[in-house]
Amino acid sequence: MNARTHTCGELTLSNVDESVSLNGWVNAVRFHGQVVFVDLRDRYGKTQIVYNQENFSGDFGTIKKLSMEDVLSINGRVEPREKNAVNPDMETGEIEVFVSDHIILNEAAPLPFVITDRDSAEEDLRLKYRYLELRTEELQKNILIRHNTYQEVRSFLSDNQFVEVETPVLMKSTPEGARDYLVPSRIHKGQFYALPQSPQMYKQILMIAGFDRYFQIVKCFRDEDLRADRQPEFTQIDIEMSFVEENDVLNICEQLTRHVFKQVENIELLDPFPRMTFSDVMSNYGTDCPDLRYNMKLQDMKSFSDKSDFNAFKSADTVAGIVVSNGSKYSRKVIDDLTEFVKRYKAKGLAWMKAEEGKLNGGIAKFFNNDLQQDIQSELGVKDGNIIFIIGDTEKIAQTALGALRCEIARRENLANAGDYQPVWITDFPMFEFDEEDQRYYSLQHPFTQPKIDDLDELKKAPESVPSRQYDLVINGYEIAGGSIRIHDPELQRSVFEILGIDKDEAQERFGFFVDALKYGAPPHGGIAFGFDRLVMLLAGTNNIRDVIAFPKTTSAMSLMDGAPSSVSKDQLEELGIRTIK
Ligand code: AMO
Repeated sequence: MNARTHTCGELTLSNVDESVSLNGWVNAVRFHGQVVFVDLRDRYGKTQIVYNQENFSGDFGTIKKLSMEDVLSINGRVEPREKNAVNPDMETGEIEVFVSDHIILNEAAPLPFVITDRDSAEEDLRLKYRYLELRTEELQKNILIRHNTYQEVRSFLSDNQFVEVETPVLMKSTPEGARDYLVPSRIHKGQFYALPQSPQMYKQILMIAGFDRYFQIVKCFRDEDLRADRQPEFTQIDIEMSFVEENDVLNICEQLTRHVFKQVENIELLDPFPRMTFSDVMSNYGTDCPDLRYNMKLQDMKSFSDKSDFNAFKSADTVAGIVVSNGSKYSRKVIDDLTEFVKRYKAKGLAWMKAEEGKLNGGIAKFFNNDLQQDIQSELGVKDGNIIFIIGDTEKIAQTALGALRCEIARRENLANAGDYQPVWITDFPMFEFDEEDQRYYSLQHPFTQPKIDDLDELKKAPESVPSRQYDLVINGYEIAGGSIRIHDPELQRSVFEILGIDKDEAQERFGFFVDALKYGAPPHGGIAFGFDRLVMLLAGTNNIRDVIAFPKTTSAMSLMDGAPSSVSKDQLEELGIRTIK
């Protein structure tokens, strides 16, 4: 191999007449009679290299066999391109290198897909050959954005007195609401470590240990249903701070987010980020992750439906609607599709009315008299060409279904501008949610979040009505970070476990060490964790988390490249004291 003098992305007219050595992959080959043009690629760029019999000292027959992704090492001379061959879009577009000799370092087998075109293969095939997909310009760019994000996060936090501390990967289970990945202990048969769903308890213990400001870019593991923005193993920027209130955490996190967007992608974010309460975003957007790049807020329609002759909504707790700008063009088929769509969110149906020539027509319009129609149009700001979609149901179903419909319509109508970033803090979450099926309370975040009241009796009396000190950062409809001010009083911590139905013995067995630690001078503290992959996903302008992770898992939690998970030998299982059930 020749030691490279330059990368494939740096030669310009200033290098003309120089003898250079380049190493790289064949990105394209074009045969023009006795002249062969090859684009040689490495991660820095592409350079056009030219083989002709005049300059090339080797066997010209071998050139004819060159194919995509062969690895070459070439020596040659830099020449200016002819005027009509100049490519202004390429860094190296003004020159070409005439090859004098080369070494074929490795021949590539026929490729399973065209790597210059990611769309040429299904994702499963690309994931199987992930090393080839990672060669694509898009993924190379994404992984570099990820790299830059790590560096900016580290330098910002370190410059602000945050100390990077690693916490164990083999640990005791922390409750974050998902299933744990368990690791059997060979030495202690029948006992298991859990992989961290997050380092929650460790970071709080680091505050008790006096580190004051902690951060870690850390892998977390959650066995849960996967989606386009969820992976079973993902990365967090985990942060904890002592002697803080909400504003201290929110301010530093805003600064961090603004810093990263500016430094990595030169994007200026709003200053300050707006804040909305959980209850406001649920009634306005039907979700706690609102995408604020477009409007189309949910509107209360109960007062109108109560006065109408439409009886189906009379018994509904909530009647709400959204007004869609160009929606009167929607055909029966589109409305039927959208009706099926909202049924996935437990809505029983989707009512509608179209605004045409100053009147409401079609759907349930006939049940609303003229005056009501006029009131609806003026109060909701309905204009000709709009359609109103309405759902009447329990508050939760009406809001959730309309919130999802709002996003679906924005997707169909392309309402969200890709270059627009709209951050928002969500605050005042409820502390607990009551699950009718399990007949018990669950934490909306995790059991370490502080309630927004001091009175323990009040907390025990009506847990579902108590707000918590949780806050989430949402950008463009994605939950990018979540955190809270923590409980630092052992008594309060015990009461919260109690409300969650974790009895004294179980609390002692699972969290005894942690509640004990709270007894030894725990400072008031709070923190947050950013979903690092989601942050990079936004920076890279993609909506698939797998596009920013070098080796992601499929939605069924498989790694198609190496075939994980896979069976293990009987001996291995025996050593661990494990028997499997088929
Ligand atoms: P939370 O569970 O909200 O909080 O997680 C923090 C952030 O991590 C990201 N995230 C995920 N990203 C990809 N795949 C997943 N499966 C996944 N799950 C979560 C989200 C989320 O906002 N210990 C607390 C933080 C704290 O209280 O300080 C925690 O983990 O962007």
